[in-house]
This record gives sequence, C-alpha cells and structure tokens, in this order.
Amino acid sequence: MKLLEKVTLGKQTLKNAMAMAPMTRSRANSAGVVSDLTVLYYTQRASAGLLLSEAINISEQALGSPLTPSLYNQEQIDAWKKVTKSVHDNGGVIYAQLWHTGRVGHSVDRDGKLPVAPSAIGIKGQQHFTSQGMKDYETPQELTILEIKQIVKDYGQAAKNAIEAGFDGVELHAAFGYLPNQFLSESANLRTDEYGGSVENRNRFVLEVMHELVTAIGSDKVGIKLSPTVYYNNIENSDPEAQFKPLIEALNELPLSYIHLMNGMLPLDNHPNYPKNAVETFGSISKHLVIANAGFNKETGEAELEKGIAKIIAYGSLFLANPDLPRRFELNAEFNQLDHATMYGGGEHGYTDYPHLKD
Ligand SMILES: Cc1cc2nc3c(=O)[nH]c(=O)nc-3n(C[C@H](O)[C@H](O)[C@H](O)COP(=O)(O)O)c2cc1C
Repeated sequence: MKLLEKVTLGKQTLKNAMAMAPMTRSRANSAGVVSDLTVLYYTQRASAGLLLSEAINISEQALGSPLTPSLYNQEQIDAWKKVTKSVHDNGGVIYAQLWHTGRVGHSVDRDGKLPVAPSAIGIKGQQHFTSQGMKDYETPQELTILEIKQIVKDYGQAAKNAIEAGFDGVELHAAFGYLPNQFLSESANLRTDEYGGSVENRNRFVLEVMHELVTAIGSDKVGIKLSPTVYYNNIENSDPEAQFKPLIEALNELPLSYIHLMNGMLPLDNHPNYPKNAVETFGSISKHLVIANAGFNKETGEAELEKGIAKIIAYGSLFLANPDLPRRFELNAEFNQLDHATMYGGGEHGYTDYPHLKD
C-alpha cells in the first residue's frame, strides 16, 4: 500500500505517505501558550509520516480566535519546544502552520482592535466564534502598504521562531479564507495598488511571504496550503484557474518542500467555473511534491496516490479521532468516531483520550 510506504520530503524521509492535516483545537491558554496536554496530543499522533501543526498565530495582530496558540514570544516558543522534542523522540516529523487570520476574527478577542484585511469588506452571512459567543463579523481595517510589508516580515520572524522551537519546517496557511487567501480573492481584495486589481497583483502578497519564509529558514523547509475552490468565508474568484495557475507556476521557481492542495468541500452547483478536482487541475502543474487533502479515506487516498500527482495524503478528522491511524489502515481496523462537541476548546476529553488500538 502506497500510503504506508516511505516518502522523501525535502531532505527528510517520512515513514509513510500520510500527513495529519493542520487542525485548530483551541486548547492554548489566553497568552497563546500550549500546554503539556498538547505535547501528549501530538506525540500520540507521531506515527503520521508528517504532522502539520494546528494554525499558529504569527503575531498579536494575526490573532482571530480565542485560545489559539502563537509563536511570537519566548514563552510561546519554549512551550512548542516540548512538543517538537517529544514528536522527534517518537520518530515523527512536524511542520508549523503559520497563521494570520486577517478579517476572520473579532475585536472582542483582539484587545478591542478591529481585524485587518486587504480591503474594508466584512464577511456576510456567517458568524464568528468568540470568547463571548457567536458574533457577526465586523468591517475590517484596510491594511496600508507599510503594514503589509510588516506582516511579510512577521511571517519571516515566525518561521525563524518555528525553527528555534524545533519544527522541521513551516507551512503558510493560504487556504480557507484567512489573510493570504483574502489577498488572492476578487471578493475580499479590492485594492487598486500593487497588491490588487490584477491576477499578478493579487498573487503578490503570497509570493512575497513565501520568498520571506525561504529567505528566513532556507530551502526544502517551506510548504504552502491552498484551497483554490473553497468559497467559505466569502472567498470568491470568477475564474480560479486564472488566479491560481500563475501562482502555482511562480511557486515552482522557489525551493519549497511541498504544496498542499485542498479539494473543494462545498457544492459547486453555483460555481460553474470552478474546477471539480483542485488536486488534479493545480497539482498537475506543480513541480513540487503535492499533498492532497479533504475527504479522503484509506481507499480514496490510496487511489489518489496511484494517480501519481499527489505523493502524500493529509487526513484531518480521521487523525483527530484515531491517533494511530496508519496502524488502523495497515490492520484494516475499525475507526473511532469523531466527537464534534470537543473539537474546539476544553481539556483532555476529545483531545488526548481517543483510544489507541489494543496490542
Ligand atoms: C477541528 C478542525 C480544525 C481545523 N483547523 C485547521 C487549521 O488550523 N488549519 C487548516 O489549514 N485547516 C484546518 N482544518 C481543516 C483540515 O486541515 C482539513 O483541511 C479538513 O479537515 C479536511 O480534511 P478531512 O476531510 O481529512 O478532515 C481543520 C479541520 C478540523 C476538523
């Protein structure tokens, strides 16, 4: 089974072709510091070929949701060191997912400061989970050019901090409607300067950040997660291929370790221009190793690897509920069921108490 065979990622050999997809679990403290429970959570899942951390805030400004972890001060870095050491001691490889939420946040959890975004356009038709319950989205503050340049630098610093914390590399979270995805979108980015108004300009921010990350920590340690056909969080593009193909081609010029592509998870009936299979459409033009995600099980994951475009499959909810997922695939074992109520926030219940298979 290809899923259980070794794969080379950058300069590292992964013990199998299964990644744990990045998953926010909202179990850090209010200072963005992860606890020993988080050490246990990742260690339990170290049999994945590659662990992708939950999204980690790169700066105070980046924060959008309560109890999400950060990586911009020494206390936060030191707490992550325990996670990476334990994962490495158990034979795992772990990348940090770098997060700036942009307009997907709320001032109640940002010291009263409005979220920031490429343009002053709030998300409509959805609400945000805050420490004070569900709230309508606010109109974000449009970023100045100087602020954009600072955010690019913040990503570079966060990547250096991730390496100091012992991570093997970093993944830019450019999917699911967060700040980089906002820059890539015609509905969220109405700028008329060099960061908006054309395909090239909308791609500029992501490419500047990726250059910065590679400059900060070097070749073969940087990946990116993209969701070209996910329109959640009011992210729309009239022609995703026109926007994302040039981006993938520009990323081909950088010494990255992978691109991580999410297939659309939502119905595309009202989006006739959206490619049905993002992994195929965009992965086929990438020179980098492709990680495929969203909705895969053992059989469909194996079939995807057989197609030859993706070399790794990222599993989200299956890994959340099954810490020993590779072993369960190997033995054709039953799966634990996902408990939706404990996905975000809380303690060990639904976090570190999903059972392993008995020996
Ligand atoms: C509880 C939960 C939290 C998530 N948090 C993140 C996140 O922090 N970063 C991210 O890129 N995707 C996040 N996702 C999306 C997953 O990485 C993945 O794309 C999604 O679950 C689809 O994969 P699956 O069908 O294997 O679950 C999250 C998903 C879940 C279930």
